[in-house]
Amino acid sequence: MSPHYRPRRLRENSILREMVSETSLRADQLIYPMFVCEGQGIRQEIPSLPGQFRFSVDLLLEELKAVLASGVRSVILFGIPESTMKDAVGSQSKAADGIICRALSAIKNEQPELLLIADVCLCEYTDHGHCGVPGKLVDSDWVIDNDSSVHLLAETALAYARAGADVVAPSDMMDGRVETVRLVLDEAGLSQIPILSYAAKYASAFYGPFRDAVGSAPQFGDRKSYQMDPANAREALREVQLDLQEGADILMIKPALPYLDVIYRVRELVEVPIAAYQVSGEYASLCAAAERGWLDRDAVIRESLLGIARAGADLILTYFAVEAAHMMRDERWR
Ligand code: PBG
Repeated sequence: MSPHYRPRRLRENSILREMVSETSLRADQLIYPMFVCEGQGIRQEIPSLPGQFRFSVDLLLEELKAVLASGVRSVILFGIPESTMKDAVGSQSKAADGIICRALSAIKNEQPELLLIADVCLCEYTDHGHCGVPGKLVDSDWVIDNDSSVHLLAETALAYARAGADVVAPSDMMDGRVETVRLVLDEAGLSQIPILSYAAKYASAFYGPFRDAVGSAPQFGDRKSYQMDPANAREALREVQLDLQEGADILMIKPALPYLDVIYRVRELVEVPIAAYQVSGEYASLCAAAERGWLDRDAVIRESLLGIARAGADLILTYFAVEAAHMMRDERWR
């Protein structure tokens, strides 16, 4: 017997197929992560992130012209200070003459049309590589102290907002930091600066290449006492609700592909915009397979980003941002 309903009827004609496509993505939903380092004339490829670079401020400004030309309108910046400048409390993170503050004000001057997001964390600036400051020794391991870390993070967020960040993005996973960041910004007259919180950030093995890029691998222990257990989804719902109550404007889930269920569940729960971070290890693994000819690069870029959007993300942080934007422009996105 011939089937009564044939879903293939809507798939045969390519125009109709596109007309009934449920998910679309624009370049202005993509946020491009970039690394900025000390020095001049530096554009150094990151071995475990092929196609991504550490830029000194002068060449970052050059590169941003190409980013804007692609159609991407927003970047998130990560700082790489001189390793001799790192200390136990990450002092350089909030220094007005620190690498991120200098980059932000230079970009604000030269590329005012870009939306600038500043990642707020201590791990790039601490000599031990943790996202907060060590408090006490438990079983011969230092435990990262929550409340003193929150204080330093809020000061960092304030320094970045003053230097020209349009949005601040705390990525440390300390409890209560969104509330303190909000308070400190408001008291400084910066109540218009939105907070994009890394609300559900997992203790993921997919951050490996990022830690190579910025040299932030923890020198003792791991991040499991503050980042989330990959086994937990209900806990993510609690985390995002807390950040919302504390004043977060956009909620981020990170990584993206291994946590599509979390993105979907958060989408069902909240009305605010959701961001998802396709992290360094997601990028690196797709690149590596494409390089070997095992995967079709364009096709997996499109499919992975559409999947993240379909799950419910409004915004996607991805190292593929510029490339994907070019694909959209050249009609290679279909
Ligand atoms: C800082 C931070 C990390 C990433 C973004 N912000 C690293 C970490 O938590 O170890 C990872 C991003 C990526 O892997 O692309 N805390």
